[in-house]
Amino acid sequence: MTFREDFLWGGATAANQCEGAYDVDGRGLANVDLCPVGPDRQEIIIGRKKMFDFDDEHFYPAKESIDMYNRYKGDIALFAEMGFKVYRFSIAWTRIFPNGDEEAPNEKGLSFYEDLIDECLKYNIEPLITITHFDFPMHLVKEYGGWRNRKVVDFYQNLVRAIFERFKGKVKYYLTFNEINVILAASFMGAGLYFEDGEDVEKVRAQAIHNELMASAYATKIAHEIDPDIKVGCMLAAGEYYPASMKPEDIFAAQKANRDNYFFVDVQARGYYPNYKLKEYERLGIMPEMKEEDAKILRENTVDFISFSYYTTRAIGADATNYDEANLIKTIENPYLEKTEWGWQVDPLGFRITMNEIYDRYQKPLFVVENGLGAKDNPDENGYVEDDYRIDYLRDHIKAMKDAVDLDGVDLLGYTTWGPIDLVSAGTGEMSKRYGFIYVDRDDYGKGSLARSKKKSFYWYKKVIASNGEDLD
Ligand code: BG6
Repeated sequence: MTFREDFLWGGATAANQCEGAYDVDGRGLANVDLCPVGPDRQEIIIGRKKMFDFDDEHFYPAKESIDMYNRYKGDIALFAEMGFKVYRFSIAWTRIFPNGDEEAPNEKGLSFYEDLIDECLKYNIEPLITITHFDFPMHLVKEYGGWRNRKVVDFYQNLVRAIFERFKGKVKYYLTFNEINVILAASFMGAGLYFEDGEDVEKVRAQAIHNELMASAYATKIAHEIDPDIKVGCMLAAGEYYPASMKPEDIFAAQKANRDNYFFVDVQARGYYPNYKLKEYERLGIMPEMKEEDAKILRENTVDFISFSYYTTRAIGADATNYDEANLIKTIENPYLEKTEWGWQVDPLGFRITMNEIYDRYQKPLFVVENGLGAKDNPDENGYVEDDYRIDYLRDHIKAMKDAVDLDGVDLLGYTTWGPIDLVSAGTGEMSKRYGFIYVDRDDYGKGSLARSKKKSFYWYKKVIASNGEDLD
């Protein structure tokens, strides 16, 4: 058998994309609540258009999402029916600390997640918690300027302490920040950063990144102090950059683009800033302010494993200008690859390449925590979807993952597909960009019964898990 006996098969969601109930049981307002569906979304999530409160002109899908806050028991039962060994979900910071800077946590928020965890454990499903999946309290945006402010590192420590203490003995795997490098592409959605006109965006971002890296290291420290059995991982939006040609300038451009992303994991996994980044910051005059203890904290609190999402590879050339607008993360078109309906390039071999690159670079166990196909589905009158396209995508990627383990020797802990149940898209805010094995009756503007139904892929994935990845037909 290729995969280890205790291989963790499952699925992954994020609070704001599935919970809804945005103002229930004391929950505070978050940046992710304020990202509407439609043409303005892009400018808002990158931090260029201000959206600090709801208005009447936009539809905000996160307010209700797929109402998992009220329906999680039924949804987890369906995950259990598929045989999930792990369920990755995230904590909404604003359920635990509604404003972010309170002294004491909100009991209702903690007990909601404790019940959810207990529901997983009832089925022997290992909970894998993302502490922050893009969400950030709006109070901290308005009063402190988001992650640019060092005080937020202290607030984050309060959050993680409350979580680790409460869930001690029940949760073993945590991720500190979902796709930490998304701060480069979507600074408001990824880190609560809104940029005023004339602000030095790169400088602000470098400081915010440093603060997140410190928060991540402190979280690792606190986790290990509270419960030495906890394993803490970092999480990268991965996908190798290919050079546009064999021209050395193109190769160098690809190396630079890869480093921009790996920089985060370089710090989280190795414990110090790499020279290429220090030199770049010096050159640009944007070196973040660091406290005296920072170097030691980073050095002593590296992550236990590396997790990442993989959807696609990217490509770049030194003189390229033809960037593909369909992708949040910059890429040019790769003529050798097919594209999804949303213009994402499909590259299963790129998955194996990426896994090898990450494993070679860090030599720590890997965990694939997102992979999947966003596609339009056409359900029949019973809500059944013949989603062979989704099965094909996942099969090809699982095969590539097998090769990475079997033929290349990558140490892999598990695999969670993105969106085992249809949920709101982070990039576009649409419901119609569906990833699930479970169909949810809801459209882009909130119409639908929210009823759940099983797709063809539901039965397929169940077989994959039961055979530990051997039966992919
Ligand atoms: C990752 C995120 O970027 O990809 C998820 O961690 C997101 O939150 C997923 O939903 C798929 O992207 P999208 O834009 O299709 O929802």
